[in-house]
Amino acid sequence: MTRTTATTDVAIVGAGPAGLMLAHLLQRAGIDSVAIDIRSREEIENTHRAGILEQDSVRLLVESGVSDRVLCDGYRHAGIDLAFGGGGHRIDFEALVGASVQLYPQTDVFVDLADARARDGGDVRFGVGEVSVADITGDRPRMRFTDADGVRHEVAARILVGSDGSRSICRHEFPESLRRQFFREYPFAWFGILCEAPPSSEELIYSHSERGFALISQRTETLQRMYFQCDPAEDVAAWSDDRVWEELQARVGANGYVLEEGPITSKVVLPFRSFVQEPMRHGNLVLAGDAAHTVPPTGAKGLNLALADVRVLAEELELHLRGDEGALDRYAERALQRVWKAQHFSYWMTTMLHRLPEASDFDVRRQVGELTSLVTSTAGSTYLAEGYTGWPS
Ligand code: DHB
Repeated sequence: MTRTTATTDVAIVGAGPAGLMLAHLLQRAGIDSVAIDIRSREEIENTHRAGILEQDSVRLLVESGVSDRVLCDGYRHAGIDLAFGGGGHRIDFEALVGASVQLYPQTDVFVDLADARARDGGDVRFGVGEVSVADITGDRPRMRFTDADGVRHEVAARILVGSDGSRSICRHEFPESLRRQFFREYPFAWFGILCEAPPSSEELIYSHSERGFALISQRTETLQRMYFQCDPAEDVAAWSDDRVWEELQARVGANGYVLEEGPITSKVVLPFRSFVQEPMRHGNLVLAGDAAHTVPPTGAKGLNLALADVRVLAEELELHLRGDEGALDRYAERALQRVWKAQHFSYWMTTMLHRLPEASDFDVRRQVGELTSLVTSTAGSTYLAEGYTGWPS
């Protein structure tokens, strides 16, 4: 095993969308980076995640030169349907806040970013092992890993960034006495499917029902993404295609919708969790994206939040490397403000639309009351539209 040593400005642990977007923005500012990931590129590309981009996320991808594909292959959605109490109610983002979102899956965002890194000669190493970081409070923090050929590497940097996802190793480097972790668990999960069928609707349907929540999303003209609330311990093997369709049809049928059916090509159970670690900076290590915070999927804030983090981080890192001592703490403060707004938004959408296992008739009627007050109030609908399409930065 040879040991090779390199130096860079910013060493990035985790080359998912947050890490790659950061590396891309830094390069545009003339700052070098090395990004690593324990997963192979194929593994990341084949992990299905959410599909909705806020308008500022779209703008970031387009204006920084990552992707035009997001505009031509993505689908612009100017609203959503909230379905409850026997019918659907459209929330018209365009009319309420003059904004829209883009249906464009996270896997495509990742592919665009990975291609942009390759095009621009970025240093990204996928499929590495034995990752660790050292000297995070010193001037020369280090990232260590073993590459796919078994060669040990050490990268000395000025700053380390932990964008290593919800199973982050970097966040554990914060001393326990200096960090706080905030959690919320939920007594349900999502059963997610991909199916080969035409779209059942042009926009997303968020459907509340006595049987529980369902979300009808899309991918392309021939591939659709749908979810329904299930028990976190649900076994996908117990769900034949017929049983899945019966459940989905029952949940949206209660609100007057009928789904186009087709062969189901993927079934997964997705856990729900709210999590934040504060602060997001310790010494010369900063966290970004899921490494610092997780939101439940309702409202699709996870990727958007990660992109918002690194947009701010790239700005503040540039200032920090030019000698501005307050810049890293400013990043943490600016990021956390948005993180807690998104935590609330995701929690609110989740608890408004899902059925708790012990829900009484009162609880279900109260949710319908809340949804009714939302859709019959311009102020209420505007609040949802602002949060969904993304708050200005
Ligand atoms: C999708 C996922 C979400 O969590 C959401 O709120 C909207 C869409 C999706 O995968 O398409």
